[in-house]
Amino acid sequence: MNPDSKKAVLRMIPYGIYILTADDAKGNVAAATVNWVTQTSFVPPLVVVAVKADSGTYQTLKAARTFALNMLGKDHKSLAFAFFRPADLSDGKLSGQPYRTGATGAPILVNAPGAVECRVTSIVEQGDHHIVVGEVVEAHLDKPFNGRPDAAILEMKDLGDNVFYGG
Ligand SMILES: Cc1cc2nc3c(=O)[nH]c(=O)nc-3n(C[C@H](O)[C@H](O)[C@H](O)COP(=O)(O)O)c2cc1C
Repeated sequence: MNPDSKKAVLRMIPYGIYILTADDAKGNVAAATVNWVTQTSFVPPLVVVAVKADSGTYQTLKAARTFALNMLGKDHKSLAFAFFRPADLSDGKLSGQPYRTGATGAPILVNAPGAVECRVTSIVEQGDHHIVVGEVVEAHLDKPFNGRPDAAILEMKDLGDNVFYGG
């Protein structure tokens, strides 16, 4: 296999950008920008997210058995960049972002246009990112929007010519 072709072709997959959050109720609160996300079932409503197996986020999510996926709006590029680094909880904010606690205990970012909360139903432990399967148990849509829901959110291609996660 040609490694450059592999990289270029895998980078043809389009992605949205989300903030994954989790709270294990033992003092560990995680928040990370992720893109490897998709819905995989209508009934029950399931989503999957691939989470870096050696990250703090993964440890917290595994202990919590719940997580939230916070959607980002087109004008939330700075939030995406803020959560590429390990999250910092201070002054009641998560890396400077106001949040409230969701039904599952996961932080819901106040500035996110929408969020879903999930219960972890299984984890596929393969590769350097493990696939976390979550059943959607709560949805937050606080701000009305016009047009297609998927036209409102931040995508990988909005982050500039040199930002990729994949390949
Ligand atoms: C563009 C981009 C996309 C990312 N997507 C993912 C992802 O899908 N899954 C993941 O686990 N990490 C992803 N990351 C890495 C996390 O954002 C990063 O490892 C995490 O915020 C670090 O915090 P932690 O080690 O405390 O968990 C991505 C990073 C970048 C730059």
